[in-house]
Amino acid sequence: MRQDGFRAEEIDTSRPHPARIYDYLLRGKDNYEVDRHAADELAAVAPEVRIGVRANRAFLQRAVRQVTESGIRQILDIGTGLPTSPNVHETAQEIAPDVRVAYVDNDPIVNAHASALLSRSGGTRIVLGDLRDPRAIVEHPDVREVVDFDEPVALLLVAILHFLTDEERPEEVVATLRDALPAGSCMVLSHATDDFADRSAAQAVYSKATASLNLRSRAQVERFFDGFELIEPGLVQVPFWRPDAPPPPQSEEIGFYGGVAHKR
Ligand SMILES: C[S@@+](CC[C@H](N)C(=O)[O-])C[C@H]1O[C@@H](n2cnc3c(N)ncnc32)[C@H](O)[C@@H]1O
Repeated sequence: MRQDGFRAEEIDTSRPHPARIYDYLLRGKDNYEVDRHAADELAAVAPEVRIGVRANRAFLQRAVRQVTESGIRQILDIGTGLPTSPNVHETAQEIAPDVRVAYVDNDPIVNAHASALLSRSGGTRIVLGDLRDPRAIVEHPDVREVVDFDEPVALLLVAILHFLTDEERPEEVVATLRDALPAGSCMVLSHATDDFADRSAAQAVYSKATASLNLRSRAQVERFFDGFELIEPGLVQVPFWRPDAPPPPQSEEIGFYGGVAHKR
């Protein structure tokens, strides 16, 4: 048993994991040689990926601040990723200390690291769950402990839907989650795209990982917002979503769309 509470044999170091690739690109320390190798390969074929992941993370923080300032007090964050400061609950609770956050990820390593972090913070839960089974997430007792589906919820699907193939019916997954949310809720979504550059080499890197990379066009990503109303500025490349500083160089090349939408 390791100090962080899970058995060493449970950690799969034979294949790169999306959470650990992303952690390495964000200069985190919760990754293995196999992940670092995949991330370096990715950066070699798509050099702006390092800026892209930071821009995605910054979008997540701006969007969380926006939804918290709009009055929402409960967040369901699916595809949490490894803890990265500031985490969602830290960003939200800085504005409103009573915000509650349910974190969901299907990678046990995320669960272990997040549990260690969250044992020190109130109003949060971490759940091992899979986006491909959205009903199980919504019905999970630990999610229900902090999220009341009769009150507005901010659903976060940030940099996760591109890990679902078309066969896994991501539009139906999002629709199931949308239908569980009461009016006044909102959705924060970001998604990788190849609208701005050919990304087949990056997809090849993910073909060796535990999840494939399924890039989608603007029109395809927009369909995830069916039944929602996008707020200004709509669906844009993440650095251009309500920037609070000048967008970084190469922003025009960043292959992540992001948007925030309300359910009426
Ligand atoms: C690129 S990270 C994004 C982390 C964070 N949302 C952010 O944008 O900074 C994607 C996360 O989604 C998780 N993930 C991928 N497929 C998933 C699935 N089917 N169900 C739940 N989590 C999944 C991965 O384990 C990883 O932690």
